[in-house]
Order: sequence, then C-alpha cells, then structure tokens
Amino acid sequence: MSEKLAVLFVCLGNICRSPMAEAAFRAECARRNLEINCDSVGIGDWHEGQSPDPRACDVAKAHGVDIEGHKARQIREKDFYHYDLVLGLDREITDDLKRLSPPGAPAHVDLLMNYVHGKVGTSVPDPYYGGAQEFDDVWAMVAQAARALTDRLTEDAVPEKMAAAK
Ligand code: 4NP
Repeated sequence: MSEKLAVLFVCLGNICRSPMAEAAFRAECARRNLEINCDSVGIGDWHEGQSPDPRACDVAKAHGVDIEGHKARQIREKDFYHYDLVLGLDREITDDLKRLSPPGAPAHVDLLMNYVHGKVGTSVPDPYYGGAQEFDDVWAMVAQAARALTDRLTEDAVPEKMAAAK
C-alpha cells in the first residue's frame, strides 16, 4: 500500500473507459487540491503498451486533460496490494476483479458507478465500437463518478491517508 490513498480504474482494454475515468478523476482531484495516486489498467493485454484510443484522447482533451502519454497495461496481482480502491468500469469486469483479487489482499474492489447516488449497479458501456457520442456519454458518466468518488473519499476514506492528501 502506498502512503497516499491510491485508486485504480479498470476496463477491458485500458484504451477507452479506464483512461477516461482516470483523467476525469485527476481533473477533479486537481480542482479540489487533493493528492491521490491513481492509474488505470485493463483486464486484458491486447493493447499493452499502446496509447489510448484517439477518440478517448479527443474527449479528454476537450475537458482539459491530456491522456496521450498513457500506456496501456494489464492488471497484475500486486495491484491488489498497492491500491486501496480497485474500481471496475462495468459489472462483468468488477466480477472478474473480485475473482482475480488474491485472498486477503487489502484492496477494496467495487463497481465505479456504485459511488454515484442513484446509479448503483450501473455499468459504463464500452464505446469501442461506437462513435463520438458514445465517447461523450462515457465522459459524462466518469466525470459524475469522479465528483461522487472525491466527495466520498473526502468524507470517509482511510482518515490518515486523506489527511496526507489534503
Ligand atoms: P475499453 O474498450 O475496455 O474501454 O478500453 C475496449 C478496447 C478494446 C477492446 C474492447 C474494449 N478490444 O476488444 O480490443
């Protein structure tokens, strides 16, 4: 575990949804002056080492965040020891993460949208085979989740880590 609170966002390929979720969360943390470690990864290794999808980069850039330097990677066992929160972008991924999490590993695995009031159990849809509208819709969801998550983390996260983050 790192000294600072650490959050990992997880989708399938780590080229669309989770880099956007990470970007929205970074932007929200910057807005609130919170220092929280975060990263994003994929369940699969198909895009290992690649930059995010250009459509995801465009949407993030339109909201003031440059994600072109991110390099996709697959989740690994030690992530469940390093991160306090491991958040799946959809329900299937979250179920997979719960299976992959080693018994006794400290990370709390949850569905990202469970942090949003009224959106418990909601998946962020995969925009990969969609168009610009689908990517805009993903941004709207992950931005909402970023606001809700930072609200929750400032309220009731691991207290000494939040003290360090402020
Ligand atoms: P992501 O989107 O999980 O949001 O990064 C996808 C990217 C690639 C693939 C599927 C989803 N793919 O099948 O290669």
